[in-house]
Amino acid sequence: MKRIGILISGRGSNMTAIAEAVREGRIPDAELALVVSNVESAAGLARAQELGIRTFTHSHRGYTREEHDRAMAAELRRCEVDLVCLAGYMRLLSPWFIREFENRILNIHPSLLPSFPGLDAQKQALDYGVKFTGCTVHLVDEELDHGPIVKQSAVPVLSGDTVETLSARILAEEHNTYIEAAALILSGKYRIEGRRIVEL
Ligand code: GAR
Repeated sequence: MKRIGILISGRGSNMTAIAEAVREGRIPDAELALVVSNVESAAGLARAQELGIRTFTHSHRGYTREEHDRAMAAELRRCEVDLVCLAGYMRLLSPWFIREFENRILNIHPSLLPSFPGLDAQKQALDYGVKFTGCTVHLVDEELDHGPIVKQSAVPVLSGDTVETLSARILAEEHNTYIEAAALILSGKYRIEGRRIVEL
């Protein structure tokens, strides 16, 4: 059984989608071991508790980035986590954490990377005027929104879109895309060639 840990800061809809997928066997041989939040009031944390998932809260306030990450890593290790999924975790990870879980950290970003990294990706896409955007699940390296791409899904930008309507259309794709990406990485049926993830 492979064990997943999820890091959140907010609503937790991707976390909930992964939890449901694990329960329904759509991520084979996996269990959701732990949900970690740096924000005590995160709605996703309450949702995880309702679902009976173990949770751990550790505010980043008053700690250096690495101190905070070491506290999270200790709990993830205690839970013997094989894969760390960032799901709306709105902080940069320290180089130490990224090395500690090298090629074992996934992130989801609401754009087709390398377009529109960073904050407010949906607004960036709308303002730029692209006709398609989407979401990307990638392995995390030391650069922001940068590591090898595991899965992407495209969605159209429609003429009447607002940030809210576009974000909702992307979010609906995010959930399935994340589940597929997590299943692939946990299956081990891929190899990394430079920046490319090649499915076997
Ligand atoms: C998602 O749209 C995710 O792609 C985005 O935050 C949202 C979290 O929603 N992540 C980023 O922008 C990271 N740069 P959720 O809490 O409902 O999963």
